[in-house]
Amino acid sequence: MSKFSLSDLSLLRFLASQLQKPRGNFGKLLMTKLFNFGNAQLINATLISMDLHADDCYLDVGVASGKSIKIASSWITTGSLYGIDYSSEMIEYCKKNFPHSRCHFVHTDAAHLPFADCSFSKISTINTIYFWENPMEMLLEIRRVLKSSGTFALSFSGKAKMNKFSAVTKHGFFIYDGEQIETLMVKAGFSEIHRQDFSGKFIVPGDHIIIAKK
Ligand SMILES: C[S@@+](CC[C@H](N)C(=O)[O-])C[C@H]1O[C@@H](n2cnc3c(N)ncnc32)[C@H](O)[C@@H]1O
Repeated sequence: MSKFSLSDLSLLRFLASQLQKPRGNFGKLLMTKLFNFGNAQLINATLISMDLHADDCYLDVGVASGKSIKIASSWITTGSLYGIDYSSEMIEYCKKNFPHSRCHFVHTDAAHLPFADCSFSKISTINTIYFWENPMEMLLEIRRVLKSSGTFALSFSGKAKMNKFSAVTKHGFFIYDGEQIETLMVKAGFSEIHRQDFSGKFIVPGDHIIIAKK
């Protein structure tokens, strides 16, 4: 008789697909809590690195539960905050939970941002790169809508950390180390690229935040 293996469970495949694109009530009720709790430190560290100002026009790509918008809204007190996601459930959740006139949520794919060139002073994308088959497409689109003086932050967990969760991440995740993403960002035309690698003594070991200018 073959040995029962946890990695064979379709539950892990299901969890991987919910991380990639949260769906249904499971997405709305459970995944939002998981993102709010599990990703809060990296989101917070990313926003601190971006040096947000009261009048910024900020976009978060792959906004999910809206945690980034919630935290950023305490700094951005006169500007505007936008979140996009290709999960209709996440956009519905954000619209219900952040019904403020300065917060806007749009249901769209990151490959096609429905904004004019040079619209945003700050853009982030956090824990999303693993799901992009062609990340260059998204990076070029993000660069297009970033103002010429704007700042872009891309945050993610690196190879070493993600491989520890291989039971889940082997189901369709694209996994990178910091250098690979930095190289991609150079190719996409970003400049003044600065990478922060968090190691064991920091609160988010194994994570990377890459800050860049247009
Ligand atoms: C793992 S969650 C992370 C959410 C949030 N940024 C955080 O760190 O908690 C990834 C989110 O990105 C969204 N996403 C992934 N690929 C996307 C794409 N191509 N366009 C728009 N949203 C995308 C998913 O729907 C999901 O809500």
